Amino acid sequence: YCTMDDFDLDGKTVILRAEFNSPIGPDGKILDDKRIRESVPTIKGLEGSKVVLIAHQSRPGKKDFTTMEQHAKRLQRYVKQSVHYVDDIFGSHARAAIVEAEPGDIVMLENVRFYSEEVLELKPEAAAKTVMVKKLAPLAQVFLNDAFGASHRSQDSLVGFTPILPSGSGKLMQKEIDSLTEALRGGGEVVYVLGGAKVDDSISVTKNVLEKGIASRVLVTGVVANVFLAASGMNIGNPNYEFLEKNELTGEIPNAKEVLQKFDGKILMPSDVAINKDGKRVEINVRQLPADYPIMDIGHETIANFSDIIRHSDKVILNGPAGVFENPEFGTGTRDILMAATKAKFSVVGGGHSSAAVEEMGIEDKITHVSTGGGAAIDFLSGKPMPAIDALKAAKKRMMEHVG
Ligand code: 3PG
Repeated sequence: YCTMDDFDLDGKTVILRAEFNSPIGPDGKILDDKRIRESVPTIKGLEGSKVVLIAHQSRPGKKDFTTMEQHAKRLQRYVKQSVHYVDDIFGSHARAAIVEAEPGDIVMLENVRFYSEEVLELKPEAAAKTVMVKKLAPLAQVFLNDAFGASHRSQDSLVGFTPILPSGSGKLMQKEIDSLTEALRGGGEVVYVLGGAKVDDSISVTKNVLEKGIASRVLVTGVVANVFLAASGMNIGNPNYEFLEKNELTGEIPNAKEVLQKFDGKILMPSDVAINKDGKRVEINVRQLPADYPIMDIGHETIANFSDIIRHSDKVILNGPAGVFENPEFGTGTRDILMAATKAKFSVVGGGHSSAAVEEMGIEDKITHVSTGGGAAIDFLSGKPMPAIDALKAAKKRMMEHVG
């Protein structure tokens, strides 16, 4: 693929797809803006260009599906340039803001997932024909993709501009690809630790890494573990089933069951969990399930066993928190597991929440690579197709053929 250094961008209008999707607290405020901070070198490198920033926040239907207004404000603080946020994606308002902007200006468009075609997963050629791409592409001369965290998606804003505009990567995209490629070198005992709430992605990664022999074991925590516990035939209790139902995750139980049967003994589930009994942490063995209270963390026995495996592994790839770590009563699992990862020979931590925990604990220097990608980082490491990176490669090929 091409990088931004391959283009003369001075005076050009550049569409920059960035990854600003951030953890948002119950008060609606951004909890951690690492992804915004990590985009600064790319944006600073575009000081002579008119920058049209496209990004997303969360998914339709989720509580943290918000506008990009506060993301724009945070960015402005870091780049010390004025960032003009428009609450429009490709309508006349957005297009006028782009046309009126000068080199050195940054126009931040609205959450691109407010637009329904964006959430379809299309091939680049089809994505290039969507309304947004047709409206925005004529206003720009170059497309840059810096959204490594979303590069496992094949959505319009990630793959739709590449068949039309000269396209390349931003600096963060390049840094992530380089570091994760490095992570793939060498063999040894590779352990994946999958937590958080993106259960569909975690099941598919589990299957992929075990099938291909990329990992010797997968340890599950967080909501992912609850689904696996249910899949193993345990009754996790009403509040926990209700949580799965509310988040449309019940359908993942049969998928988890299939993977468990296929890879017997290679997927390790918690042996104890912490439940939230009226605000207090109470630990129970999983044999004591069902629980009448929500499971909010893994228990101490699990923490000790998992930490031991992680410490003795050659490589640990960790994605997603082990529990509701924002609540101090339920942060032990996430923190202790991350501490164990600092002892592994090689460690990669991905996912917005996990990397926020790494920063809060001040252990960035002890983790080999803290990725801005969650699902994208684990997909990359498990050799799954990366549509947005492939689209950049195809764009380079097309440009070379054109030149040749
Ligand atoms: C992420 O946070 O992993 C990326 O922003 C992609 O989000 P998605 O899983 O909602 O597509």
